[in-house]
Amino acid sequence: MLNLLIISDEAKDLYSLFKSVRFTQQNSEQKTNSARKKYAESGKYDLAFLDLDTENWQQRLLELRQQMPVIAFSRADIKTAVEAMKLGASDFLAKPFTSEVLSDVINRHKKKILSHTYGFDEIMGTSALMQKIFGLIKKAAVSESNVLITGESGSGKELVARAIHKWGPRNAKPFMTINCSAIPDTLLESELFGFEKGAFTGANYTKKGLLEMADGGTCFFDEIGDVSPLFQAKILRLLQEGEIMRIGGSHQIKVDVRIIAATNKDLSHACRSGTFRQDLFYRLNVINIHLPPLRERMEDVPLLVDHFIKKHAPKRKDMLIKGITDGAMNVLMNYSFRGNVRELENIIERAISFTNSPEILPADLPSYLLQSASPKRKAIPWLKEQLASVEKELIWSALQESRGNISKAAASLGIRRQQLQRKIRNLKIAT
Ligand SMILES: Nc1ncnc2c1ncn2[C@@H]1O[C@H](COP(=O)(O)OP(=O)(O)OP(=O)(O)O)[C@@H](O)[C@H]1O
Ligand SMILES: [Mg+2]
Repeated sequence: MLNLLIISDEAKDLYSLFKSVRFTQQNSEQKTNSARKKYAESGKYDLAFLDLDTENWQQRLLELRQQMPVIAFSRADIKTAVEAMKLGASDFLAKPFTSEVLSDVINRHKKKILSHTYGFDEIMGTSALMQKIFGLIKKAAVSESNVLITGESGSGKELVARAIHKWGPRNAKPFMTINCSAIPDTLLESELFGFEKGAFTGANYTKKGLLEMADGGTCFFDEIGDVSPLFQAKILRLLQEGEIMRIGGSHQIKVDVRIIAATNKDLSHACRSGTFRQDLFYRLNVINIHLPPLRERMEDVPLLVDHFIKKHAPKRKDMLIKGITDGAMNVLMNYSFRGNVRELENIIERAISFTNSPEILPADLPSYLLQSASPKRKAIPWLKEQLASVEKELIWSALQESRGNISKAAASLGIRRQQLQRKIRNLKIAT
């Protein structure tokens, strides 16, 4: 269900019209200014309708469009409509409008508006921590400021960067990613800035850099914390001047790129220890989005598991994997996920390819997960499942080592060949 904010002196009359389209929530003119502001800021609304016949509409439009798309409406007047669109309104409706027109405009925007209950785009999360992140992504998307995304490895930084681009006004233009840690300085320079023909031996042609190619769009600097001091200066210049020069070039080229950077390092600490430039840090960190580690939002695990099962299940052509047993979910809920969401995704993907049941069992999870499970747990109905999992894991690795030779595997496990064969059958290990 969409939450709509209506700002109009005629809000009461409009409410019945909106109700007829069966979209809820209104915030009528009776609310005081501060109350209205608070509502808008709380991120409760998905779409705003602003009557341009109300006082001070320009100011309101500028404030609102930071939070959500704004549909402006007024008596038919081209000049006002154009002014509203210039100030950032997403659409314009001429008063009076019918419920069909209203329903049409809402449906058009609905596709772009996201339900925040379960996730934002492909980013899943029901925890309060993630709901806050979704609000920040929304704000960052409509703003032009630089964004620094921080968080441990595997916590979803790249996913957030892509969402900001996708839901912002630059989405029709490119999103370019540069992984700063993976590339040595000289290569990084030619990748980012490009080069002119003859700039160095082997430069047989002129090549545009990523920044030029991203013109009008977004450039995502991944692992920005790993960039050398020399390169930090070059990036700072880009941020200050909005200009670049190709290697071997003789003139500056204007580029219009929005910069999003990410790191798993503590950059303010790096600034204090002198390995990262403070001025660059401030320039990048205009909007900071810090992704909490998964272990601090364990309530997101079931939803993520479900999401990853749906994502990876189609890889199994022989069986439909539908879900996970309570026992296996329990194991996951007691694990600390140092590798965050990426680790959880890998665990599920692996379980899907290993399992012989339509529901993932504890035995399908890696054994280190079972070992690290809390020792304080009470007598558990799934102890058998856990033991089976450890056994399965050991047998599997012995079989891999012996390249499928059962006698050899049995010998290394210290059991008889027939015993191993029985276990393979019982544990449904594919050989
Ligand atoms: N909230 C989430 N919902 C769904 N998938 C997620 C979520 N967070 C992360 N993922 C998935 O986890 C994997 C890792 O995410 P991502 O690459 O964005 O992490 P990262 O923070 O950039 O990691 P690194 O620091 O190692 O580069 C991806 O496959 C991504 O799709
Ligand atoms: Mg990443």
